[in-house]
Amino acid sequence: MLLLSLTCSGQQIVRVLNTSQTNHLIIMQIAIIGTGNVGGALATKWANAGHTILLGTQDTSSFKGKHLLSNPNTSVHTIAEAVQQAELVLLATPAPAAIAVAQSLGDTSGKIIIDAMNVVMNRGPQGFSNTADAILANTNTKDVVKCFNTTGFNNMQDTNYDGVALDAFVAGDSVRGKDAAKQLAKDAGFAECYDVGGNDRFNLMEQFAFFWINLAMFQGMGREIGFKLLKR
Ligand SMILES: NC(=O)c1ccc[n+]([C@@H]2O[C@H](COP(=O)([O-])OP(=O)(O)OC[C@H]3O[C@@H](n4cnc5c(N)ncnc54)[C@H](OP(=O)(O)O)[C@@H]3O)[C@@H](O)[C@H]2O)c1
Repeated sequence: MLLLSLTCSGQQIVRVLNTSQTNHLIIMQIAIIGTGNVGGALATKWANAGHTILLGTQDTSSFKGKHLLSNPNTSVHTIAEAVQQAELVLLATPAPAAIAVAQSLGDTSGKIIIDAMNVVMNRGPQGFSNTADAILANTNTKDVVKCFNTTGFNNMQDTNYDGVALDAFVAGDSVRGKDAAKQLAKDAGFAECYDVGGNDRFNLMEQFAFFWINLAMFQGMGREIGFKLLKR
């Protein structure tokens, strides 16, 4: 196993090259803002994959997902402290709070933000049709991508359907943001993370999420369904 230190946006990244399995893992410092269903599922997967997880909460003594502190490599902080120590931030709070949450992050310059939120039934950040545009307008990073919003949290806890792993999807103009999201999707157990396009596809990603919600909830199929892209 070979360890290399790289520098990215002033933060140290450790690249772990597992020569015996010919695959590699880039260990990241990840702030999770919103430690409920989605944030909790991904925090657990990423902690178990070896990433450092910084839970950022409004009240560090009382928050949803307190049990996550028994995961490896996991600690709790104020939101600004978690973001300050992280190179990548996952936002998984209710969509109506997106502007307030974005404004609470502190200095995000050079940091990647992955937005997992969805405006559902018109409940979202005022003045925006999707949460990622609200984050871009209220932070000082341009590296905002949308990922992990298109399927249920249960599918993040368990991506496996009879031996076949689900796929994930990502959109945004930031190439480094999409590269990080693609790695993290695989670290969470998704088979692939397909590039859906740039920032102009943020709305499409939320519509795709609503397609899943529609089947699962309104058409009565239940949460144990998910998407897999077939190719030939
Ligand atoms: N549920 C799903 O299957 C699913 C799937 C894909 C995407 N999504 C999207 O993901 C987001 C989160 O959904 P969820 O089901 O994980 O929600 P959830 O279980 O209700 O968790 C929400 C989290 O957000 C935190 N929060 C609320 N307001 C906040 C604020 N102003 N500042 C900081 N943190 C705040 C809560 O903190 P406290 O502990 O302090 O209350 C809680 O940890 C939503 O936008 C949803 O549309 C959900």
